Amino acid sequence: MCGIIACAGVRRASEILYKGLCDLEYRGYDSAGISVRREDGIVTVKRAGRVSAIECARRLGGDAGIGHTRWATHGAPTDANAHPHNFGGFSVVHNGIIENYAQLKAELAARGDEFLSQTDSEVVAHLLAKYYRGDLKEAVIRTVRRLKGAFALCILHEEFGGFAAVKYRSPVIAGYGSGCFAASDMPALSGLADRVAVLKDGQIAFAGENGFTFCDFDGNAVSLTFSPLPPQLRSGGKAGFPHYMIKEINEIPAAIRQTAAAFEAEGCARAFAKLRRKKFSQVIVCGCGTAYHAALAAAYGGEELLGVPVRAETAGEYRYRRRRKLSGTLFVAVSQSGETADTVEAARAAKAAGARVIAVTNVPYSALTSVADVVVPVRAGAEICVAATKSYCGQCAALGLTFCALAGGRHYGRAKRALAEAAAMCADAISGCAAEDAARACASASAVYFIGRGADYPSALEGSLKLKEVSYIPGEGYPAGELKHGPIALIDGGTLTVAVITDPALAEKTASAVEQVCARGGRAAVVCAEGCETAGLRGRAEYFIAIPRSELFPAIVAAVPLQLIAYRTAVILGRDPDKPRNLAKSVTVE
Ligand code: G6P
Repeated sequence: MCGIIACAGVRRASEILYKGLCDLEYRGYDSAGISVRREDGIVTVKRAGRVSAIECARRLGGDAGIGHTRWATHGAPTDANAHPHNFGGFSVVHNGIIENYAQLKAELAARGDEFLSQTDSEVVAHLLAKYYRGDLKEAVIRTVRRLKGAFALCILHEEFGGFAAVKYRSPVIAGYGSGCFAASDMPALSGLADRVAVLKDGQIAFAGENGFTFCDFDGNAVSLTFSPLPPQLRSGGKAGFPHYMIKEINEIPAAIRQTAAAFEAEGCARAFAKLRRKKFSQVIVCGCGTAYHAALAAAYGGEELLGVPVRAETAGEYRYRRRRKLSGTLFVAVSQSGETADTVEAARAAKAAGARVIAVTNVPYSALTSVADVVVPVRAGAEICVAATKSYCGQCAALGLTFCALAGGRHYGRAKRALAEAAAMCADAISGCAAEDAARACASASAVYFIGRGADYPSALEGSLKLKEVSYIPGEGYPAGELKHGPIALIDGGTLTVAVITDPALAEKTASAVEQVCARGGRAAVVCAEGCETAGLRGRAEYFIAIPRSELFPAIVAAVPLQLIAYRTAVILGRDPDKPRNLAKSVTVE
């Protein structure tokens, strides 16, 4: 989605905002803009393109300002549609969607206001100007009470020395350091603020000469507690790697170990032992994109372990499904960011229907955590590359621990040991994986298909998604057994099929799908766990990538070569793996 940032009480606001926008850029990179307040008034620079397109804005100076990096929803990525939007002495940046913007725009246009953009956000600056009678607080409150949808706003006014920040269904974090700050997430505040507070829905912050004051949408004062910025949410830069994606793949073993340690330290096993006694009749695991694939991977093993039906659902579908009462249901919502709109709303809907909600997330202060009865931490650390890598493995680890703790008995201890082994296997796979040749084959293929059976099917889906996201090569993830029921019509010498085989019991079956591909002139690569190699497989497949075998966590170990193939393919093709076209890391709109 979009990223917003604000600062006040600082010297050279523009430098701070520019650096902050570079940290927030993974939230959207269609356009960027900065407004600063100087003695000569508010000055704005905004342009279509990446944050680097407004590099010149670094020299604007100012003692307060706001900044924005955009993922376009309303209106194309143009200079005019870039934020901030200015009107009547106000300058505004917005993350979210103003659902009633058309009606507000018509009302404001009828009184003579002219609009310069196609965005929903511009109405906010006009409403503020309409309601401003010398009292900023009053203008902000009257404005936000007119808005429907989701909005995180930062607001500058020419007569006010600081900024205002508003939070409603999109995140805003306030921070104190050598000034007052606000931003869409904590990593953007690292290096600026040492103490942070997370605003709740319906709260407004005013940063002035004497620090922050807070109120709600009725104008009542509220107080927020500031605490130290959690160390795991500091972004450590690329640390010598050429891209965040490869840096974050290298951090997979640490993400697994830290997730297991946090599960233990935060008493999750005890919480689930209690939940187990309450009995439940079904489990629904839900998420979007990569998080959905982690949900699906967990669901494969979950049913046998828990002895009740376990199913995975995509959140965007689940939230609009008509449903029965869900008492006796455990609803497990999986989200790296914890702010994906579909996942948060699916969790709210499940809770309203009577389910117990478990949130599995990498961001401890996110919207999803406020919906959940139990929060299971993923401790992957700040993930900056838009394509999820280490967070996927962290999610698989957290879900595995959750299900094993729910199952009780010896299962939890077994899961902890298996995860420690899986982390070591990932480290081996990262250093020893022969992904390069397969990546070259992907880079020259007309399409790449990923197949797998049983627990390898979610891996096939995730391998395919990863490659599509960062390389733009068309393809599909498919259950290996379904290949012959349709997709095989697409196989020719220009295509590559990547088979994932990590279950010895199903290895022959998937190997026969590889045979079918090769018999039609298709090229094949195999990601094969130890002990799963069938006779002749190495000779049939052009590329053979051997990985260690984890019985409990096959998806975690298989993810390593699949992510490396996607990364190397993107690099070979000259794509930017960290910021794929059209994508944003967290999607806070429907
Ligand atoms: C976006 C990202 C994906 C991610 C999905 C879910 O589409 O581009 O990489 O998997 O959102 O994000 P979440 O934060 O809920 O895991």
